[in-house]
Amino acid sequence: MIEVQKLSKFYGQRKAIDEISFTVEKGEVLGFLGPNGAGKTTTMKILTCFMPASSGTARVAGFDVFEQPLEVKRRVGYLPETPPVYNDMIVADFLAFKAALHGIKGPDAKKAVGSALENCGLSQVGKRLIGNLSKGYQQRVGIAQAIVHNPQVLILDEPTIGLDPKQIIEIRGLIKSLAGERTVVLSTHILPEVQTTCSRVLIINEGKIVASNTLEAISAQLRKGNVISLLVKNNVTGLMGKLRSVNGVANVTEEPADGGAAARFVVTAANGGEIRDAVSEIAVTSGAGLLEIKRESLSLEEVFLKLTTVEPSGSQAGEPSGGAL
Ligand SMILES: Nc1ncnc2c1ncn2[C@@H]1O[C@H](COP(=O)(O)OP(=O)(O)O)[C@@H](O)[C@H]1O
Ligand SMILES: [Mg+2]
Repeated sequence: MIEVQKLSKFYGQRKAIDEISFTVEKGEVLGFLGPNGAGKTTTMKILTCFMPASSGTARVAGFDVFEQPLEVKRRVGYLPETPPVYNDMIVADFLAFKAALHGIKGPDAKKAVGSALENCGLSQVGKRLIGNLSKGYQQRVGIAQAIVHNPQVLILDEPTIGLDPKQIIEIRGLIKSLAGERTVVLSTHILPEVQTTCSRVLIINEGKIVASNTLEAISAQLRKGNVISLLVKNNVTGLMGKLRSVNGVANVTEEPADGGAAARFVVTAANGGEIRDAVSEIAVTSGAGLLEIKRESLSLEEVFLKLTTVEPSGSQAGEPSGGAL
């Protein structure tokens, strides 16, 4: 549903994302996890056609974000980091306005607004001023404007940032309920967020993807402590099998490669054993051409240290979070 290839973005001289590649399957809820400044918002802005990339390609629902932005926007709902909600508008009017921007008019618009309100638990507050709602409900309005045109893909940039613990739980529940058939990508710098909401995680750090798997598998990688990343020039036939048969290798996965390499293999050692010699020998003797071999988990450990590992605690004073509208 989403295919990103070697996507880079420069802000002036500064490289915000660096040849990142990944795919998201239909129906997945992908967590885009990384510390502040990692490049999450930049990637999401490119995927939603808010900003062009400097190089590389991205396709969403089969359309190129650069060449067919209208087709992409029709199929994508986007909750930006700062939700585009107008405080002096009535909730339902705002959603009708967003529906009109998508070309939905008349009875269809009424239906679209009604179901966005209902799906986001906003039916009771449809006639209220957005500015008078609690932060949790304003965030629901932000999500409602993203789904009003019933998109196949939802891109949510830090959807629970700034909310109190109860609101966080409610918004996560809402995201899960919206997932279903839809493909969802949500960004976060909070580790437990992906645990509760996402089926798979993409970890990004300093503009590069450093891991892509389920959180359990990534944690297992970290615990085992000996995971090797292998970059080769040619992905010769049978290479994966040869790597798997190396004594002491527990698992091998192939990941998107960048920087002129044909393939990247992530090789996990059984019981944390030393496999670098054996693995590099296979790469060389099979004619694959060894470009790089390095310990994967070290960089991953560094990223985990930078992530927020506890939920924000203590609800904001004065905000009664108990179901406040
Ligand atoms: N408009 C901009 N101009 C210059 N640099 C920017 C701009 N937006 C983001 N950056 C830089 O790009 C990098 C990635 O930012 P961003 O995509 O916002 O990361 P994240 O959302 O993961 O926190 C950061 O180093 C940030 O300072
Ligand atoms: Mg951001």
